[in-house]
Amino acid sequence: MQKPSHHILVCGSFRMNGTPQGVCAKGGAGQLLQYLQEELADHGLNDVAVACTSCLKVCDRGPALVVYPENWWFGHIDSEEAIDAVIESLEKGTPAAEYTIA
Ligand code: FES
Repeated sequence: MQKPSHHILVCGSFRMNGTPQGVCAKGGAGQLLQYLQEELADHGLNDVAVACTSCLKVCDRGPALVVYPENWWFGHIDSEEAIDAVIESLEKGTPAAEYTIA
């Protein structure tokens, strides 16, 4: 197995009891996971791993995700356009300013 070059951690709003209750799950983060996976494949970014996490503690900016190893934090990822901006960030090597959590 080849190790991924990047990880995208998508907030799944999971709490201690395992139930997704937070802003990100309610904001449609789960539904955008498939689109994210498809776009990564379409762009040839096959070495980028995607995982769903517990609450990332930036609920007021949700739906949120983080890209490692860059440590880019993105918020308001609630549309295909927002996912496209994340993909473009990976391709350009610069985080999309309109979605960046400072
Ligand atoms: S529920 Fe996503 S950051 Fe808290």
